[in-house]
Amino acid sequence: MIDLSHFTSFFIANWKLNGSFQFIDNFTEFLKVPKTAKNCITLCPPNLYLNYLQLKNGDFKLGAQDCSYFDEGAYTGEISAKMLVESQVEFCIVGHSERRQYFSESNQIVRQKADKLIKNNIIPIICIGETLDQKNQKITNKVLKNQIYESVPEISNNLNTIIAYEPIWAIGTGLTPTLEEIKNSHNYIRNLDKKFLEFKILYGGSVNAKNSKQLMGIEGVDGALIGGSSLKVDVFNEIIS
Ligand code: PGA
Repeated sequence: MIDLSHFTSFFIANWKLNGSFQFIDNFTEFLKVPKTAKNCITLCPPNLYLNYLQLKNGDFKLGAQDCSYFDEGAYTGEISAKMLVESQVEFCIVGHSERRQYFSESNQIVRQKADKLIKNNIIPIICIGETLDQKNQKITNKVLKNQIYESVPEISNNLNTIIAYEPIWAIGTGLTPTLEEIKNSHNYIRNLDKKFLEFKILYGGSVNAKNSKQLMGIEGVDGALIGGSSLKVDVFNEIIS
């Protein structure tokens, strides 16, 4: 398993259902990873492209966007954590709000996936976050608490698991919480239990080249999960610089 304590910031590119061989050729040709060893840059393409991206041998880690909670067997369409290991995957996003929303993933499923990943030496990046409606009802903390308690497996610790706070209303919308709100949410998660104090907690939701410096400067933010802005290599370069 990769040593998380080695890094001070994490930039995770979540390409979602985007990309092609040609896209990867172009992206890796122009990607400029800063020379500091303290930044962990991870690219999460659709699974089909993992091996191709790995062959590029770039200055980045490989991540997947999801995995099965089964090991093997008659589960059509699934990809196991063990298979991801064979493709040199070191991180895997789980419980992204799009999976929760479009594929009916519950906290319990997310927890089983994260558990499976850890047991296969892959770091799960467990996503949590409130809807706009929940924010307006002022129940963000309650929602986060429930998601954390139900989706983070027993065996998780600060060295084998990352948490990503992604307000659902901020994903792909160009909207972000205030700096104060992000700081408070990260602080809230960290202090839910002393076990979370040392966790790496990322922020995700409309991170772009203009706001990334400010967002990454917030106390308690250890990096970013980046969707749309990770699809344009020059914008991504600016963010990770
Ligand atoms: P976004 O997506 O950067 O396009 O808002 C973030 C995410 O979905 O992880």
